[in-house]
Amino acid sequence: MSQQPAYKRILLKLSGEALMGEQDFGISPEVTAFLAREVQSVVDIGVQVALVVGGGNIFRGEGLARAGMDRVTGDQMGMLATVINALALQDAIERIGGMQARVQSAIRINEVCEDFIRRKAMRHLEKGRVVVFAAGTGNPFFTTDSAASLRAIEIEAELMLKATKVDGIYSADPKKDPSAVRYQEISYDEALGKRLGVMDQTAMVLCRDHGMRLCVYDMSREGALRRIVTGETGIGTWVNR
Ligand code: GTP
Repeated sequence: MSQQPAYKRILLKLSGEALMGEQDFGISPEVTAFLAREVQSVVDIGVQVALVVGGGNIFRGEGLARAGMDRVTGDQMGMLATVINALALQDAIERIGGMQARVQSAIRINEVCEDFIRRKAMRHLEKGRVVVFAAGTGNPFFTTDSAASLRAIEIEAELMLKATKVDGIYSADPKKDPSAVRYQEISYDEALGKRLGVMDQTAMVLCRDHGMRLCVYDMSREGALRRIVTGETGIGTWVNR
């Protein structure tokens, strides 16, 4: 396996659901430990890593919104859920030893974690600390994918990775359509035009307009993150301008 990183700074977006593992709710300690080891495998070769995590394993707003809950309240609950996940990741990352992590929240919750301060986040990264960005963008109506795109651009990451349960972007849902093919590479405009559902449009357009490369890959494959970050090709789908 290559020891040479192809990227100096990356941002990895994890869905909240990914943290559940086999459970149907909450946080699996096995999954957070696995993710911490995956992150360590790239931190060890000098890559600066920022994380953005969703909150769907703890709170999903859609059901309650359908039942009449105010959307803004639901989104705020979702943001708090991401803070819980970020703390779990911080703990898992520091517990395996050798790494430090800092959680920065887009909403003020100082007793629990730091506020998002871009320059401070970048200093943490330069010092080799993993920074976990919590609470999305701090605003309702924005997804954590949009938050990830925004933070990746802000911290001048060279690559954004979206960890999913499938090994890339397909022409159709591979579970429903056996003729679905995986794209090795696709442009943002093509993915947007074909409505491939990679990320929401806001997140995609932000990445496109700021030239942020995106790699969508299967997070459950041990070693995949290290292979991508050391420049191995053929893994996941790459989305380019
Ligand atoms: P340096 O400036 O490089 O020394 O970084 P540092 O993060 O180690 O120093 P700092 O003194 O800022 O933080 C020490 C510890 O306090 C770290 O674990 C931070 O995550 C934590 N911390 C810093 N600011 C806050 C905050 O506003 N709220 C909470 N809850 N923790 C904070």
